[in-house]
Amino acid sequence: MIDENIRKISKILIQRPSIVILTGAGVSAESGVPTFRGPDGLWRQFRAEDLATPEAFARNPGLVWEWYDWRRQKIYNVEPNPAHVVIAKWEKYFPFFVLITQNVDGLHQKAGSTKIIELHGNIWKVRCTKEGKVFENRQVPLSQIPPLCPDCGSLLRPHVVWFGEALPSDVFEASLQALYHTKVMMVIGTSALVQPAASFPLIAQQNGAILIEINLEPTPLSSYADFTIYGKAGKILPLIDQLLSEESEEKIE
Ligand code: OAD
Repeated sequence: MIDENIRKISKILIQRPSIVILTGAGVSAESGVPTFRGPDGLWRQFRAEDLATPEAFARNPGLVWEWYDWRRQKIYNVEPNPAHVVIAKWEKYFPFFVLITQNVDGLHQKAGSTKIIELHGNIWKVRCTKEGKVFENRQVPLSQIPPLCPDCGSLLRPHVVWFGEALPSDVFEASLQALYHTKVMMVIGTSALVQPAASFPLIAQQNGAILIEINLEPTPLSSYADFTIYGKAGKILPLIDQLLSEESEEKIE
């Protein structure tokens, strides 16, 4: 039986076909990608906050790269799950649609998403620490750790945003524009603990959007959300999508 709130959400989406989706690691969990704060979140004894920082990289670039190399190996062969697929489908369905993801795994794009803002960068890109040039790099495992710039021989770093670093201004600005504009804000699979992403849903809500959260468990956003659905994104999104299709067919008849 379909949860009453899922029916309400699909009705809201039909009445307000304008949506920003914010995703976190939970949306990739069913593809087999470990979340950061879940039971598999630790690498050796380190938390993300210990390694995803400029200080950690300055202290020990090899260690930070070993962690990224491990993550890249885990992600390399995984496939998008039904949550990614529904999100990719929706960008063609809704007249206003923007996907903002904190994930660096590239799975949304693999599922077909194109209207996407990658807030924290992409694990398949590297950046020269001297000249700032960005390269795609899909070598798994890396043949050399830490990897060096093919042009100038300087250290390469992952082209991702670390704790203590600002989001690129164009990425931040594009996100704000979407948050100001949208009528529905859907937050999927994020612990909502890392700023500024954690505040994005509230910005949208303060600008009039209905806030919907999908997660396995309560988060700091849950008490603000207009609707919270507890469960797996890969199960819930296809249910909402099914109801949207049924309602659209009814409209045509
Ligand atoms: P977290 O690991 O902090 O949170 C994952 C969330 O997904 C948790 O709230 C889980 O309950 C939920 N979850 C797990 N499986 C799910 C499923 N199948 N369906 C729905 N929800 C599920 O990951 P993020 O919130 O993405 O940043 O972490 C935010 C940032 O912290 C990351 O982008 C990364 C990290 O450190 C940097 O590295 C800068």
